[in-house]
Amino acid sequence: MNQKVAALLNDQINKEFYSAYLYLDMANFYSRKGLDGFANWYEIQAKEEQDHAMLMYQYLQNNGETVTLEAIAKPDKTFEALMDPLKAGLEHERYVTSLINTIYEAAQGAKDFRTTQFLDWFIKEQGEEEKNSMDLITRMELFGEDARSLYLLNSELAGRVYSAPSLVL
Ligand code: FEO
Repeated sequence: MNQKVAALLNDQINKEFYSAYLYLDMANFYSRKGLDGFANWYEIQAKEEQDHAMLMYQYLQNNGETVTLEAIAKPDKTFEALMDPLKAGLEHERYVTSLINTIYEAAQGAKDFRTTQFLDWFIKEQGEEEKNSMDLITRMELFGEDARSLYLLNSELAGRVYSAPSLVL
């Protein structure tokens, strides 16, 4: 593999684990607030991020590259209002989209079409992640101020179930 592309993917493994950590911290925040549905939603989000990391880990190994695991940074965001994690989540997903795009661009430049094909799934996934984040913000804006509606929204988010990623290597 092109070594720049391999290095970017190796770095992205760390970023995905950091994302998992960040979302777990958001789940932690909502648990403290007594919103178990929101906590559930973010716990599942954290699992998905671990899946993203493991897909890249497996992909590099499948291609004969050495994976180097680095320290995962401490989640550095502080939350006060119930809306704060939702906005931070959207901002974070937009950042991750830019990272995936950078890797895609490098792979394209190196004519590493196997990697661009691998990353196609992530490009689509980022679209979904950003949409989910925006939808949550919209619903919180609509229903978050009213205790009854917030209770119903929380109950709905409690119903989110984890499913393994559709991409199989
Ligand atoms: Fe792994 Fe939320 O992107």
